[in-house]
Amino acid sequence: MAETTEPVTMDKIVSLCRRRGFVFPSSEIYGGIGSTYDYGHYGVLAKNNIRSLWFQAMVQERDDIVALDSAVILNPRVWEASGHVSGFTDPLIDCRTCKLRFRADKLEDGRCGRKPSKRPGEFSECDLTEPRQFNLMFETHVGALEDASSLAYLRPETAQGIFVNFKNVLQLARRRPPFGIAQVGKSFRNEITPGNFLFRMREFEQMEMEYFVPPAEAEQWFHYWVDARYRWYTDLGVRESHLRRREHEASERSHYSSATTDLEYLYPIGWSELEGIANRGEYDLTQHTQHSGARLEYVGEGGERYTPHVIEPAVSIDRILLAFLVDGYDEEIVAERERTVLRLHPRVAPVKAAILPLIGKNAEMVEKARALQQELRRRHVVEYDDGGAIGRRYRRQDEIGTPFAFTIDEQTLEDETVTVRDRDSLAQERLPIGGVRAWLDDALERDWKSPKSE
Ligand code: GAP
Repeated sequence: MAETTEPVTMDKIVSLCRRRGFVFPSSEIYGGIGSTYDYGHYGVLAKNNIRSLWFQAMVQERDDIVALDSAVILNPRVWEASGHVSGFTDPLIDCRTCKLRFRADKLEDGRCGRKPSKRPGEFSECDLTEPRQFNLMFETHVGALEDASSLAYLRPETAQGIFVNFKNVLQLARRRPPFGIAQVGKSFRNEITPGNFLFRMREFEQMEMEYFVPPAEAEQWFHYWVDARYRWYTDLGVRESHLRRREHEASERSHYSSATTDLEYLYPIGWSELEGIANRGEYDLTQHTQHSGARLEYVGEGGERYTPHVIEPAVSIDRILLAFLVDGYDEEIVAERERTVLRLHPRVAPVKAAILPLIGKNAEMVEKARALQQELRRRHVVEYDDGGAIGRRYRRQDEIGTPFAFTIDEQTLEDETVTVRDRDSLAQERLPIGGVRAWLDDALERDWKSPKSE
């Protein structure tokens, strides 16, 4: 009987990600650059799965949402109209002594540079400035001249690229509210209290969908999207004990929002925002209409016209991956040995199946295993491994979350069957080798529930 140990710490997740090549600190050989990460092979595969599961739910399985891929660098007037130039700021305090910078509204989370570590202001030598507003957008220059006329920004959210394309989509995709535009892409923020690994990065991949609705239907659609997005996570196996909805108080809401509900996950840093669903009202379309002169409104066939209201579910792949990693991470003692296992939903797992010849030097087993790998890899990401003891190979796959392992052994050579090992239950059964492909297709379609306790 397996015994599970908790809790999952951020250090354990960081260490697994590094050990198994999911995520590395960026430009590490030069000492890294704060809160920027590079994804390795398994990280890329897991991110691809999350992106395509989101896209499937938001676009592929619906008639009312279309896709968009807008530029990262937009006309800077977009950010004036959206309110980011004047309002996308954090209040900052500098320490003239240790030269560190802290968020004025999160001073209690800050750490002074000196040892023993204390909060900013707690040493007698601390010399803090008054708070001042610091804009989180990264600036750049477009063209050869570096002056005010060439100033531009790396987008801090993908949403504005959607609003400025509202008219194009309305006309060319021939949609009428309610309809949505979905976009996935990198966003950039010069975060002042970065840290906590993938939770708060300076460069992250957002997945946002702006859903344009008749004003009278805004509230109803807001609730619809809060529920739909909650269900997306539980369908992918996230434990309900670690996921909750939290409505924002009026004082917390962004300038554009009339209602916001966060889906929060119980990360090792405590309950924190995983995804936000906001009712942005007519704020964005009205702002861009006023600043650009283009009328961003819906005109019906009968001549009725109105500015649609917008419901926005917004999340980053990075925060989802972190939630999945924390939710799936497990350590247990099996037959007096410890194993670390990532209990990821099979559809999220970077590798769907391992193909293992029991004896890596047995030419017949290798040949059969390679043939099976060739057959399966056309449809799924699978991994062949013939290096080392079988137990160690299983452990390696457990740590990257591979849900199934097919082992080719002596019996395969006699009767053309293989064993399939289940990552979670460790149960093994035998299957005809010719039926493995269909078995795997089926297994990946099945519902899956986390075996970690609620
Ligand atoms: N368009 C609305 C918007 O951008 P937000 O709450 O600032 O709203 C939306 O961001 C989502 O983007 C968050 O819920 C989170 O999943 C993700 N996100 C925001 N900042 C992030 C960061 N620094 N690192 C990783 N993910 C981030």
